[in-house]
Amino acid sequence: MQYKFDVNGAPHTVDADPDMPLLWVLRDYLGYNGTKFGCGAGLCGACTVHVDGKAARSCITPVGSIGKAKITTIEGLSADNSHPVQQAWIAEQVPQCGYCQSGMIMAVAALLKEKPQPSRSDIAEAITNICRCGTYPRVERAIQRAIP
Ligand code: FES
Repeated sequence: MQYKFDVNGAPHTVDADPDMPLLWVLRDYLGYNGTKFGCGAGLCGACTVHVDGKAARSCITPVGSIGKAKITTIEGLSADNSHPVQQAWIAEQVPQCGYCQSGMIMAVAALLKEKPQPSRSDIAEAITNICRCGTYPRVERAIQRAIP
């Protein structure tokens, strides 16, 4: 099947099986390698992107389900790391190995867009991304810093 959709403001057309995970399309067909593969089962959050502004785990999002939704990857969050969540990540020096961080940032950016003043339980509910380096205390500080 041929699919046309918008990624980071640019139109793309891809030929893919409808069940192909969006993650593969983004990375292997379109070269948006900032989105990472972790578990492949919707559990770790490394593959988090925005689908029409909402956080989605692209490893379990079939490309056939995208329709006209607009996709944003970490490359499209800002051109120069100027997004407030990215700025907070830099200020708090969050990453260790960094592998999970693009997904973590995308999840937090989606949460703060939906709820600019999230409660602790909002954060706990929305940010379930896994970090093998255990950067959670810095992630928490960066989230607090990013809250306007
Ligand atoms: Fe998608 Fe882990 S790679 S949730």
